[in-house]
Amino acid sequence: MKVIIKSLGHACFTVSDGNHTVIFDPFLTDNPEAVISADEVVADFVLPSHGHSDHLGDAIAIAKRLQVPIIAPYELAMYCSRFGAEVIPLHIGGGRDLPFGRVKLTFATHGSAVVTDDLIEYTGPPCGFLVTMSGQTVYYAGDTGLFGDMKLIGETTPIDVAILPIGDNFTMGIDDAVMAAEFLKPKVVIPTHYSAFEPIKKNPQEFAEKVVAKGIKCVIIAPGEEVEL
Ligand code: NI
Ligand code: MN
Repeated sequence: MKVIIKSLGHACFTVSDGNHTVIFDPFLTDNPEAVISADEVVADFVLPSHGHSDHLGDAIAIAKRLQVPIIAPYELAMYCSRFGAEVIPLHIGGGRDLPFGRVKLTFATHGSAVVTDDLIEYTGPPCGFLVTMSGQTVYYAGDTGLFGDMKLIGETTPIDVAILPIGDNFTMGIDDAVMAAEFLKPKVVIPTHYSAFEPIKKNPQEFAEKVVAKGIKCVIIAPGEEVEL
């Protein structure tokens, strides 16, 4: 079955095989790049990588409206559960077979908290996701710096598509993301987290040129665009 990856703006992507859809980091309300509203999202599983507002975003509202579960690191899952969302708590290194295939949580080196004016509520460690659907494996790195164990992920898991942040400032910048792609050895790399906000504005073409020079195919998908695997 064909698997389609679609960008909904900033770090929000859906992966769908026509029967099942998962959504990563559904930040749509207040997302300057959002191509749909949170009310329009259709998904079977909601996968927020960490608690920051540009990732957790509308996850709880979407999960409650659709009555579908949130899959997240335990502490973040428990946070979502407090607001009435159905959750499937996992933790880093752990995976689970689900109707669409399999999801596994991976390490990410970043923070994870819900930050409000008068409280910073920590929501455990951030994560990345390995999602296998219809025989295709997508590595959604989440917000992360470069880390050496990406090499281990690449050696143990054949990755069809890696979705990697390139925006610098809060995550890997372009050169570190190129090294990440070399570690992970995906068939295709998709850059993310590089255009929605001023401190992370980067040119994805520069990333594409550098990563293609290493022999890795790169597909840039603008918000609203999709790629078929
Ligand atoms: Ni973040
Ligand atoms: Mn972010």
